[in-house]
Amino acid sequence: MNWQDHPDRPADGTRLCKMADIPDQGGREITFGEGRENFKVLLLRRGSQVWSYLNYCPHFSLPLNYEPQTFVTLDGLIMCAHHAAFFNVDDGRCVDGPCVGDGLVPLPSHVSRGVVIFGHPPPRIASRTPRG
Ligand code: FES
Repeated sequence: MNWQDHPDRPADGTRLCKMADIPDQGGREITFGEGRENFKVLLLRRGSQVWSYLNYCPHFSLPLNYEPQTFVTLDGLIMCAHHAAFFNVDDGRCVDGPCVGDGLVPLPSHVSRGVVIFGHPPPRIASRTPRG
């Protein structure tokens, strides 16, 4: 199923969490809905940068973490706790392990005033400078 069609997907503009609530060099999961098939957003942070992915490993379609809110990151990589696949934090591509060449599914998000928000940022309205 495409993530856009997931019944529990949050609406664009949904506040996910404060950026400060994501451990630097680590991750945090935000879930929507109930049960095993709920919508799992994985937020990864390095300093002031945040990336968001579906929290599903492409190897066996399991969440990357085994314990709640426990994500193993190292040198710009995140490891799946099940069979040790390693993914780039910045593009989600699997670079080592049983699913090399696959990748995490990126989700749109942005940070506004220290809050991570689901969806693309609203378009900027170009300001016009009066001429004359
Ligand atoms: S489920 Fe992630 S590496 Fe196997």
